[in-house]
Amino acid sequence: MEHIEPLIAPSMLAADFARLADEAAAVADAVDWLHVDVMDNHFVPNLTIGLPVVESLRRATDVPLDCHLMIDDPDRWAIGYAEAGAYNVSFHAEATDDPVALARRLRAAGSKAGLAIDRDTLIEPYLDLLPEFDTLLVMTIKAGFGGQRFLPELLDKVRAVKAARGDLSVRIEVDGGINADTIEQAAQAGADAFVAGTAIYGADDPAAAARALRERARAAAS
Ligand code: DX5
Ligand code: ZN
Repeated sequence: MEHIEPLIAPSMLAADFARLADEAAAVADAVDWLHVDVMDNHFVPNLTIGLPVVESLRRATDVPLDCHLMIDDPDRWAIGYAEAGAYNVSFHAEATDDPVALARRLRAAGSKAGLAIDRDTLIEPYLDLLPEFDTLLVMTIKAGFGGQRFLPELLDKVRAVKAARGDLSVRIEVDGGINADTIEQAAQAGADAFVAGTAIYGADDPAAAARALRERARAAAS
């Protein structure tokens, strides 16, 4: 599992919501996934976009959609995103009592399954569940808003997942405050999928910013 190619996923939370198709096209050749932050004003205070927008975005781009559900009751809502054609659907460990059951339902519905761990949640209870998931999303901020400062102490969770992963193909994804200054430490800790909102869509040339992040992650991991 060494030398895994890093995956770059720009967060559309930092894009222009009135021009999502154009914003997707602007990075399409430079990235692996588009990270779509779904927030419901309950699980987190912020409110963003939901299923109809994901359905439209799916038709507007060929880039795989990495949907990050920051919502209550994912047992009720997550499957809709898989059925809408999301490549990966991540739900929060804090929002469900039975993450394995939901992961199995997502995979049966045709998507990958992701487990997201917020800032204040310990990783240890979830390490035995890794075979059930395709991505383990370690928040490197408190979920809810873009543009926050990266919290390096949360990389201990990345190290724990990397140590527990063994030969499993689960991706270790980091989300929050990832930029040219922080991506190297995340990659060195073992992350191999990188969400970046501000650092990509806040740049003058989002595609160039994404490529630069990829190079830094590659260099740090090798
Ligand atoms: C926040 C979201 C992130 C956010 C990251 O809860 O999950 O995906 O867009 O934004 P930056 O990269 O600006 O921290
Ligand atoms: Zn996110």
